[in-house]
Amino acid sequence: MSVRRRELLVGGAALGAGALAARIPGVATAGAAEATDAPADASLTAAIPFEGAHQAGILDARPNRAIVVSFDAISASRGELAAGLRTVSDRARALTAGYDALFGPTGEGPTPDSGIVGPRVDPDALTITIGFGASLFDRRFGLAARRPIGLKPMPTFPDDALVDAECHGDVLVQLCANTEETLLHALRDISRETRGVLGPRWKVEGFLPSPRRESGAGRNLLGFKDGTANPDVADEGTMAELVWTGSEEPAWARGGTYAAVRIIRNRVEFWDRVSLAEQELMIGRDKAKGAPLGKDAEMDDPDYASDPDGKRIPLDAHIRLARPRTPADEGSRILRRPYNYSRAYDEADQLDMGLLFISFQRDLEAQFEAVQNRLAGEPLVDYIVPTGGGYFFLPPGARGSQDWVGSALFV
Ligand code: HEM
Repeated sequence: MSVRRRELLVGGAALGAGALAARIPGVATAGAAEATDAPADASLTAAIPFEGAHQAGILDARPNRAIVVSFDAISASRGELAAGLRTVSDRARALTAGYDALFGPTGEGPTPDSGIVGPRVDPDALTITIGFGASLFDRRFGLAARRPIGLKPMPTFPDDALVDAECHGDVLVQLCANTEETLLHALRDISRETRGVLGPRWKVEGFLPSPRRESGAGRNLLGFKDGTANPDVADEGTMAELVWTGSEEPAWARGGTYAAVRIIRNRVEFWDRVSLAEQELMIGRDKAKGAPLGKDAEMDDPDYASDPDGKRIPLDAHIRLARPRTPADEGSRILRRPYNYSRAYDEADQLDMGLLFISFQRDLEAQFEAVQNRLAGEPLVDYIVPTGGGYFFLPPGARGSQDWVGSALFV
């Protein structure tokens, strides 16, 4: 029902010229800015285009906030599902470009905008990335024959303590932006416009430390810099090899990627009782500088060849197991794009905080699972507990103003 209401709103130009102009990312931002007060913070106008060969929010540098929501597809028909997914893309296109929200008198109907970011909806580096879980390809919507070849439900790995209520899901929406209010505004908008089509299953809100605090990768909640060693996103060849799907997939699914999302609780009370030296040996890096142990700078190579017996960096250190850096394991590299999360105290008065681990890869088994299996039994497992997440296929991007993410799946 709410999907139809949006069509009416847009059809009746109820969102105003700003919203229509906002359908051309970038151009809209500059034009619309003249109509309203200039934002106090220039980062509010940073716009990342929604359309493109690949979806945004995968290679882009992480802004400081994220919300990852997994939905169940609850509509009765394939047509309603397709309309709902089109709506997610239409709203993402507008929200990521920015527009002037309608704040004036609008009669008796629901208010057109939650208003929580004010009359001007700035892009604020917002990206909205859409994915499909394996369950979407069951019998309900007649999509079984079109399932991406590498998509399956996330298995339970050794040392996992998965909670069903925060695992899996039909549709994933990852929202990233500079500020929390931008994310909440976008989430409320999308939730309201897709009510009856997408039912929430689980949600995790993530954050990174302020980049003003120190240079290099931001710290995770174990206090270590996280995100230092990653494949070069500017190298198209490497991204084609490690991230983007190709001819192995059905035509509709080429140029997409797979996301492994893992909600990994950190047992911080226990961790904070461990000596600094032991923590560093478990990770394999210097806690203050982020450098590989025995090296000077964060970006230095760990140089395992000069340390074959693990005297400097133990053979079971997290970074050494995750990526031994031998020719045999380079094909299992993954692109990590994680956030920290922090929730309520649990029933035992322990802090519930950890890592919203997100990695992107072309092949879940050959990459994510190969890394995860190498990490099984690492010393760090005593301090981390995976509780949720899922595997999702992220289709290629929307190709132009009329297209939507996943459209080719439904033709
Ligand atoms: C709460 C759980 C985890 C914590 C606290 C953690 C922490 C870290 C830290 C501190 C680093 C070193 C800095 C960096 O290069 O980014 C690192 C690197 C890495 N981690 Fe994790 N990690 C966790 C889970 C995982 C998982 C689940 C995987 C994959 C299955 C993974 C794969 C990697 C990889 C591939 C690297 C880079 C290694 C290299 O290229 O040298 N991590 N992690």
